[in-house]
Amino acid sequence: MDNIKQLIDELRQELNENNYKYYVLNAPTMSDKEFDEKMALLEQLEKANPQYFDPCSPTQRVGSDITKSFKQVVHERPMLSLANTYSVSEVTDFLNRIKNMLGDEQFQIVGEMKFDGTSISIIYENGRMIRAVTRGDGVQGDDVTDNVKTIHSIPLQLRNGSGYPARFEVRGEILMPWKVFDALNREREYNEEPLFANPRNAAAGTLKLQNSSEVARRKLDAYLYYLLGDNLPFDNHYDNLIAMRQWGFKVSNAIKLLNSIQEVEQFISYWDTERKHLPVATDGLVFKVNSLRQQLNLGYTAKNPRWAIAYKFQAERECTKLQSVSFEVGRSGVITPVANLEPVLLSGTIVKRASLHNEDIIRNLDIHDGDMLYVEKGGEIIPKIVGVNLNARINGSKPVSFITHCPACGSLLQRIEGEASWVCPNKYHCPPQITGRIEHFVGRHAMNIDGIGEEVAEQLYNSGLVKDIADLYDLSADKLMLLDRFGLKSAQRIIKGIDESRKVPFERVIYALSIPYVGETVAKKLAFASTNIDNLMSMSLEQLSAIDEIGIKIAQSVIDFFNVQENRTIVERLRNAGLQMQTAADDTKVSDKLAGKTIVISGVFNLHSRDEYKKMIEVNGGKNSGSISAKTSYLLAGENMGPAKLEKAQKLGITIIDEKQFLALLNQEPENKPQ
Ligand code: IVH
Repeated sequence: MDNIKQLIDELRQELNENNYKYYVLNAPTMSDKEFDEKMALLEQLEKANPQYFDPCSPTQRVGSDITKSFKQVVHERPMLSLANTYSVSEVTDFLNRIKNMLGDEQFQIVGEMKFDGTSISIIYENGRMIRAVTRGDGVQGDDVTDNVKTIHSIPLQLRNGSGYPARFEVRGEILMPWKVFDALNREREYNEEPLFANPRNAAAGTLKLQNSSEVARRKLDAYLYYLLGDNLPFDNHYDNLIAMRQWGFKVSNAIKLLNSIQEVEQFISYWDTERKHLPVATDGLVFKVNSLRQQLNLGYTAKNPRWAIAYKFQAERECTKLQSVSFEVGRSGVITPVANLEPVLLSGTIVKRASLHNEDIIRNLDIHDGDMLYVEKGGEIIPKIVGVNLNARINGSKPVSFITHCPACGSLLQRIEGEASWVCPNKYHCPPQITGRIEHFVGRHAMNIDGIGEEVAEQLYNSGLVKDIADLYDLSADKLMLLDRFGLKSAQRIIKGIDESRKVPFERVIYALSIPYVGETVAKKLAFASTNIDNLMSMSLEQLSAIDEIGIKIAQSVIDFFNVQENRTIVERLRNAGLQMQTAADDTKVSDKLAGKTIVISGVFNLHSRDEYKKMIEVNGGKNSGSISAKTSYLLAGENMGPAKLEKAQKLGITIIDEKQFLALLNQEPENKPQ
């Protein structure tokens, strides 16, 4: 073996070992600086010596932005679920059943946490991760190997050189730790994106992201709890778990061998409260027969193993009286019903209100006026109405009815086809819709005008000073100071913010307009594709839906928005007020060298990022498209390109170019000729 290969191997081993100590044992021995330096050196060596590429190298955990759909894989052994129990006596029944079935033979139970995430099956061959597949329907799931590789607590290469079977499967739970979950939701709130209801949804959603570099950023964790395969090192579950820990897997410390019903009961009562201190969500405990021989004898029902059972923790639930249902109007006119409750203490916070989301939910729960409602928090952060205490229903009470007219402006509500929500159609004269749009317009990610929250927006609207977003640019400190609670300082702050907002880039102006379905990302795409507001306002449905990631629904929404005279007038007034109505100079057209060319980008590049190439195509008059068709002019191919794309391009006879050829394409035009 040459010296370089040896150095690469040593670095990989050292980094793997530190990774294990840091992410699995929580006890790093290497400083962050040293770790980063070694990682950088390894990356450099691997790049210079591509013959030593290894998909399980610690450098391969960063993910890539290649998007692809997941391959379906049939599980080697079906992934069954556990039967649930909800009380200690049901667990005792389970233990007695085992005792009977084993004919009074001695047995031990392993007590474990039931982690509340999303389950995963991972195959290892010769100590290396081969494939990771989601549970799916239990028979087959999605191949999410690239995403799982970004999870540092899952080894790509096992630690001990021997001791593990040549081929085996481990199963476990992928989790988003509470801390990461809270931070992610804070970020989503800031970006005005919908929040994840609980870490389970967040983990499952993250694992299904197409872009593994985004998965890497989300910092998932994993606990492994099940070893399957031939030639397992031990004939019992507990010792196999300990062995797995030696090989580098994160196995929970909360596993315990239990020898009697009393010990099982103690385990339950201990973890019922102690689980609240764990860094990840759990929703119960799992009890498994320890001996693999006994497991085999006990066997399976159609759905569950007979040798294991789940005990579910009681979700924190209270019963409280429904005082009234109010209906709120959002900036897009959607009506949200909200239950006003007699205040009740739930998991440490007082709950007074809970969203009922839409009419269907009220119907399905069959909520009547004055009902006693069950409110749960469980793993959820947002309180949820889960049912009605029918025994406490007032005789003759009526079902809660959904309103027919807007509570703010009295307009007749409309139900959008195919959706569960009712909407107030009076977009331009319904006060909460207008103040909602003002609030959105001034938001940090839109025009970033400080000092205008919900209350001030209402005050501005009610005073008649601001009837639409364009009126903001007619404000002055003097006018503001006529309002209640406004001093010189607060008035000047708002005016300064309004002044500065004139520099906010075009894409954020588009976002600020409150065009239905146009969030930040879509606004960027629209800005980039149109380059200015006049183009955007005159684009056809076909042109809009040809933009990457913009479908018919968004395209139609943009067209509808600009078809309304009120909106065109507002845009005109904003333009006159000096807002940015075109992309910044460096984003606009550079040349027409790629005019009429449709280019698909695929793979990983060395000289520029994919986004940079995308931009280059568009500023040179070309069109970037996500999928290959007969219309594709070039396929700009990087490394590690998906074989399916390559095959399709070859089949259609499309010219495949690498990044150098692409750059040459841009440089051979007149501009470079001597003047
Ligand atoms: S054992 C054949 N152990 O709970 C039994 N499952 O309904 C294999 N889970 O799908 C599962 N913690 O996603 C097992 N310590 C644990 C677990 C656990 C969470 C999940 C798993 C499974 C579901 C069972």
